[in-house]
Amino acid sequence: MNFEIQKRALSRVIRDDLDALIVFWPSQPDATSTEKDPISTLVQQAVQKGDFELKTGSVLSTYGQAGTKARHVIVACTGENKATQIRIAATAAWAALKSAKVKHLGVYAHGQWSANSLQSAAAALADASYIYTTTLSKPSYRSLKQITFSASEVNAAHKTALAQAQALSAGVELAKEWANRPANHATPTMLAQAAQAIAKGAAFKCEVLGPKEVAKLGMGSFMAVARGAAEPLRFIVMRYNGASSTQAPVVLVGKGITFDTGGISMKPAAEMDEMKYDMSGAASVLGVFKALGELKPEINVVGLIPATENMPDGLAVKPGDVVTSMSGQTIEILNTDAEGRLVLCDALTYAERFKPQAVIDIATLTGACVIALGGVRSGLFTSDDELAQQLQQAGDNAGDLCWRMPMDDEYAEGLKTRFADVANVAGRQAGSVTAAKFLQRFAKKYPWAHLDIAGTAWRSGAAKGATGRPVALLMHYLLSKASTPARAPRRR
Ligand code: BES
Ligand code: MN
Ligand code: ZN
Repeated sequence: MNFEIQKRALSRVIRDDLDALIVFWPSQPDATSTEKDPISTLVQQAVQKGDFELKTGSVLSTYGQAGTKARHVIVACTGENKATQIRIAATAAWAALKSAKVKHLGVYAHGQWSANSLQSAAAALADASYIYTTTLSKPSYRSLKQITFSASEVNAAHKTALAQAQALSAGVELAKEWANRPANHATPTMLAQAAQAIAKGAAFKCEVLGPKEVAKLGMGSFMAVARGAAEPLRFIVMRYNGASSTQAPVVLVGKGITFDTGGISMKPAAEMDEMKYDMSGAASVLGVFKALGELKPEINVVGLIPATENMPDGLAVKPGDVVTSMSGQTIEILNTDAEGRLVLCDALTYAERFKPQAVIDIATLTGACVIALGGVRSGLFTSDDELAQQLQQAGDNAGDLCWRMPMDDEYAEGLKTRFADVANVAGRQAGSVTAAKFLQRFAKKYPWAHLDIAGTAWRSGAAKGATGRPVALLMHYLLSKASTPARAPRRR
């Protein structure tokens, strides 16, 4: 998808050769606006007659309107232009157009638009128009190729925001693609191939470790999860070097369980198919690297992905088994379905070698987080206030929200056991927090945060599918680091 932006009045945009035009209209449009084009007149009339309520997400759909070249013109109300409201308006506008084969879409932003609002609109339209095609024999491909934005005021910040939106959308779509793929089309080996394809070019490196190398590293916890799987495990190490090698990298660790049956502690059959998205953390790391390749910011980033299936088998790890992690800590595996933390803990130990400025792990870790926060906000777990603040801010700017959860040491009580240094599960209470407390034991050597995306990476129900979250949050975080002069002086 290609985005562009130009400074134009609506009276001019309606004469452009477009397949369709969306006009975003805030609830309180600029009163000083003197636009006298047929669309503005139509909206004013419809509002006066009570036929078009200026309420977030309401849509006025016209076809073959006199004076407009695009046959479809959709006016959609964006409320106060908050990121969430823009998303609702964009989704509604796109739904009104869906049956039309739109290749070149025009978008006119009525009134005053911030660069960030424009980015939200672009991201939301890319999101709404995404179509999964990979495993269909006769897919209907997405027709939309180009979106041309117009507004009466366009500055350099608008242009930067749109270029970012284009790169972010490419990353988000890549993450959706891999999370949507069925597990037999997204094995650990295939994820590693995808990583190698993304990490092409001068600034990138990609290394893929297999069972032998992982054994040599002593990743006994990761290997325990992979024991039941016939598909060989992969440990993927991606590097993006956009800044001087003296600058400490940010390390992203993505949970890459390509299918989670629960292992011997097996999950019930209902909706087990959805456990193909248990590698959404890994997919978000791939998505971030895709976006990094397009934007080339001045920052160093490492991506780590422990990838395996979690399967029941004669050789599978059993409840009560004790394994030794790469850190040397022994773990009693009381529940083989709490496998995410078992693959992540060894990756967190591996991360130490990069002397990172920060490590963020991203994981569909617990059903408890889905219960606590639903699909609106990802769970954010860290005892580092500065990192928490930065990630929350990035989420707000990206419209990809998270919510900080508590990390009191008392929550770790339930992880105590007589038979190992730590157990992999505690009781039923505060399950997303006890999971984070488990991980924290392995992340003592650097500033660390954990994002539980079990609720946000996937939409259930009729429109079921991957969301590509939290690629936008992570990219906003990384870009804010890259532009902080104290940490990364900008050349040019
Ligand atoms: N992948 C699941 C978590 C999950 C649940 C993700 C629902 C998305 C939707 C994870 O591996 C898991 O099974 N967690 C267990 C932990 C429990 C055994 C302590 C859970 O949440 O039930
Ligand atoms: Mn599980
Ligand atoms: Zn899992």
